[in-house]
Amino acid sequence: MPWERVKNTVLLTATSPQLERDALQYACRLLQEGSLVAIPTETVYGLGADALNPKAVERIFQVKGRPADNPLIVHVGSLEQVETLAAEIPGRAVRLARHFWPGPLTLVLPKLDRVPDITTAGLSSVAIRMPAHPLALKLIDVSGLSIAAPSANLSGRPSPTRAEHVLEDLAGRIEAVLDGGPCPVGVESTVLSLLAEPPVLLRPGGVTLEQLEAALEERIIDGTAPLDHGEISKPLSPGMKYRHYATEAPLYLVEGQGERQLKQMLGLCEGFQVQGRKVGLLVTDETVPFFPRLLVESLGSRNNPPAAAAQLFQALRRLDARGAEVIIAEGLEDRDLGRAVMNRLRKAAVEIIKS
Ligand code: TXA
Ligand code: MG
Repeated sequence: MPWERVKNTVLLTATSPQLERDALQYACRLLQEGSLVAIPTETVYGLGADALNPKAVERIFQVKGRPADNPLIVHVGSLEQVETLAAEIPGRAVRLARHFWPGPLTLVLPKLDRVPDITTAGLSSVAIRMPAHPLALKLIDVSGLSIAAPSANLSGRPSPTRAEHVLEDLAGRIEAVLDGGPCPVGVESTVLSLLAEPPVLLRPGGVTLEQLEAALEERIIDGTAPLDHGEISKPLSPGMKYRHYATEAPLYLVEGQGERQLKQMLGLCEGFQVQGRKVGLLVTDETVPFFPRLLVESLGSRNNPPAAAAQLFQALRRLDARGAEVIIAEGLEDRDLGRAVMNRLRKAAVEIIKS
């Protein structure tokens, strides 16, 4: 076997056509026998298992330390494959799939009985998406499986956007990681429920609310809009109620804009420094010059939300790795992909400061 092992987890690199074929075949065999393989997608790495094998799916929950009431997303390679999982495929689903698949959109539909309860955490619905990463699509195709895959991190940690992040969290706990390079989108898929009319947004992600409304030519209910105190109104999607994406260092999110936001951040930073704590900053390029000689990770330009999304989880992991004892994060505008970034930061934060 040409591949390196990290604590017994095989790191399947696919850097040549021959290696790719071998890696896919190896990963495929593991999944078919009920083992776990972390797979690259365009959003984040997923911890994959055969979605119709309850034993394999059970191990996903064990390995991640995931609460049993938080259902998984099932990954498919075609609209026909959706018919093998969903009891009903409304016209809106077909329209959205044609528009956004393969891509970062997950649709919640009524499930067929053959989808095990453990996969959907006992719900009568199933969440389905077609990922855009070529290796994920090839693996689904070669294996003939529907692949259940939550983000491949330990429950509560920032999602992995590189194979090395998966190994940081899960080496020794899973059979293999298929290395597909860095994930280009960097935040998870948008989750949209089509169980009722109108559709309800359950998680903002790689496809924006604006794009969904334009494609459907109708309004969508935003089930994730934060109330004043930053809480979610009512957990429509089980995953919405847990603290997520948490760095080891406590993270303080400073929302707002312009000079007031900057002043808040500077004041907070000074306060932590007086306490002798090593401050890490998660800020945009425009803000970097105001924090010279400090531990800084940039999200790119304020005017480029997709770049911020692509950097987010990696920057959070780096701040921990570089020894930050407390993190101050600059809030972005709640528009376009900024909505997904802010949703993740609000969940990661121990405190949200409004300016
Ligand atoms: O981009 C993604 O979606 C990544 C990649 C690997 O595909 N996966 C991912 O999975 O983010 P996970 O498990 O970290 O998040 C799945 C989300 C959770 O918030 C969960 O509660 C929700 O989808 N979900 C799954 N099935 C559901 C259902 N039947 N009804 C409502 N929400 C559901
Ligand atoms: Mg996750």
